[in-house]
Amino acid sequence: MPMSEREEFARTGIKGVDEILANKGIPRSYVVFVIGSPGSGKTTLALQFLYNGVKEYGENGVYVSLDEEPDALVKNAKAVGLDLSKMIKDDKLAIIDASPIRFLPGEVKLGDISVGKREFALISLIDAIKKNVERLGAKRLVVDPLATLILQYPDAAERRTAVLDLMQAIASTGCTTLLISELTTSSLYRKYQFEEFLAQGVLILRKILRPGGMLRIFSVEKMRGVDHDTQPHPYKIGDGGIEVYPSEIAL
Ligand SMILES: Nc1ncnc2c1ncn2[C@@H]1O[C@H](COP(=O)(O)OP(=O)(O)OP(=O)(O)O)[C@@H](O)[C@H]1O
Ligand SMILES: [Mg+2]
Repeated sequence: MPMSEREEFARTGIKGVDEILANKGIPRSYVVFVIGSPGSGKTTLALQFLYNGVKEYGENGVYVSLDEEPDALVKNAKAVGLDLSKMIKDDKLAIIDASPIRFLPGEVKLGDISVGKREFALISLIDAIKKNVERLGAKRLVVDPLATLILQYPDAAERRTAVLDLMQAIASTGCTTLLISELTTSSLYRKYQFEEFLAQGVLILRKILRPGGMLRIFSVEKMRGVDHDTQPHPYKIGDGGIEVYPSEIAL
């Protein structure tokens, strides 16, 4: 890849994925949603993105976990052959446990001012992201999963505003970012989710039950400014994590 493209794109380093992204990767500083079914490998893909960033491209990464404990993430990564512990020790990768935002009381006092739980959760999350990105000089960022935050906003307009606020704060870090979200249907024919319209890119991971068994399907729903492949492709989870097969079409 020529030098200029290296500066413009963050390669995922995940087998098959960069090929599908016009052989380039994700445009730098994009905020991309990874939307997938339960157990489809969203977390694995996100960890691979950060692992490869450190290992192959010399870019530090921050992983903000809203659900899983950092220890569990490290252990699961190791099970697919990704050893994160040395990277963490060397301050090239940070796994931040942001799950305490789930256990906040209804109202939080900031000095004399009382703020609602979800506003405080969002402020704390943004603060943790900024501090850690700065501390590591990170170029890659993951927030997984967004549902924990989104579910606090039953009202659609408020939810959209909260996600936009988060995306704006993330954009100001300059990191190439994966935001992990849940696919809300198991059908091949699905409704678009609101976050897909806001993001600069969307990757979809699906599990579909077929007469022949369960099939895992990867597709790039959108990636602004990239002439990407739009076909659905099969993928597997195994040693090394996710591998996508760009020459096969899953239909
Ligand atoms: N060593 C392994 N070999 C093959 N497949 C594995 C291995 N480890 C995990 N998996 C598969 O990966 C899936 C979990 O991947 P991951 O946690 O990345 O999914 P996820 O989409 O983040 O799930 P969740 O919706 O629970 O957050 C497991 O359900 C399992 O099918
Ligand atoms: Mg997960």
